Amino acid sequence: MPAHPDVRGFFDPATHTVTYLVSDPATGQAAIIDPVLDYDAASARTSTGSVDAVMSALREAGLTLAMVLETHAHADHLTAADHLRRSEGVPIGIGERITKVQATFAPLFDAHDVTPDGVVFDRLHADGDAFPLGALTAEVIHTPGHTPACVSYRIGDALFTGDTLFMPDYGTARADFPGGDARTLYRSIQKLLALPDETRIFVGHDYLPAGRNEFRFETTVGDQRVNNIHIGGGTSEEAFVAMRETRDATLKAPQLILPALQINIRAGALPPPEPDGRRFLKIPLNTI
Ligand SMILES: [Fe+2]
Repeated sequence: MPAHPDVRGFFDPATHTVTYLVSDPATGQAAIIDPVLDYDAASARTSTGSVDAVMSALREAGLTLAMVLETHAHADHLTAADHLRRSEGVPIGIGERITKVQATFAPLFDAHDVTPDGVVFDRLHADGDAFPLGALTAEVIHTPGHTPACVSYRIGDALFTGDTLFMPDYGTARADFPGGDARTLYRSIQKLLALPDETRIFVGHDYLPAGRNEFRFETTVGDQRVNNIHIGGGTSEEAFVAMRETRDATLKAPQLILPALQINIRAGALPPPEPDGRRFLKIPLNTI
């Protein structure tokens, strides 16, 4: 029997993101996956209410935060990973291909402080890497497609897919960002669907599809394999790619893509200050 970590999801209604608190029941060691840094676009003000709520729950449960894990560099929300690193003294892990994402986006944002080597993150995880979380073992599965650096984390019977799979009635994430690819996404998802049917899947976002009126973010491999509207029931690679590319051609840029990516390629750190101490985002015109 695989280990059964405790998992709590925290849904952020502003960005439809789910942050997970996953912990080892035996030791109380915990990881936070994909924490959100709140951002008010109109005032360009960041705040930490969402991640504070996760930390309050962690403390109430008597858990100890051991690490932050990112499934990828998100385009729809800012990450609170650096905030947790500074406030809790924990390392940040992400897929090693984050270097490709940094190489793409650092020039776009004129971010001279960002070197495309991943050093602003603490741990760069390769496909197949394993590391302990208390007495549990976390395994890294490289699942590119949505972005080239996406990873899924398998911890006991729990699988955290980020944006590689959404709920079965919503389907899958777009694959049209730089370095994204629908065919690659299909093949990554096949790796996940080959895991045992009873594996619990925790998805990175939920958006209410027609016919559902409550947010959900937990499903199983077996449910996805049969019921996922984009890829379940033995959907072929060609059919998936055609569907995904047709749909992606209709999607607008995510609302927070410009602030999010320039913060997230810095692991959530704000851009360096100007001589007078103020910090600025850069908004490239007519580029995305
Ligand atoms: Fe994403």
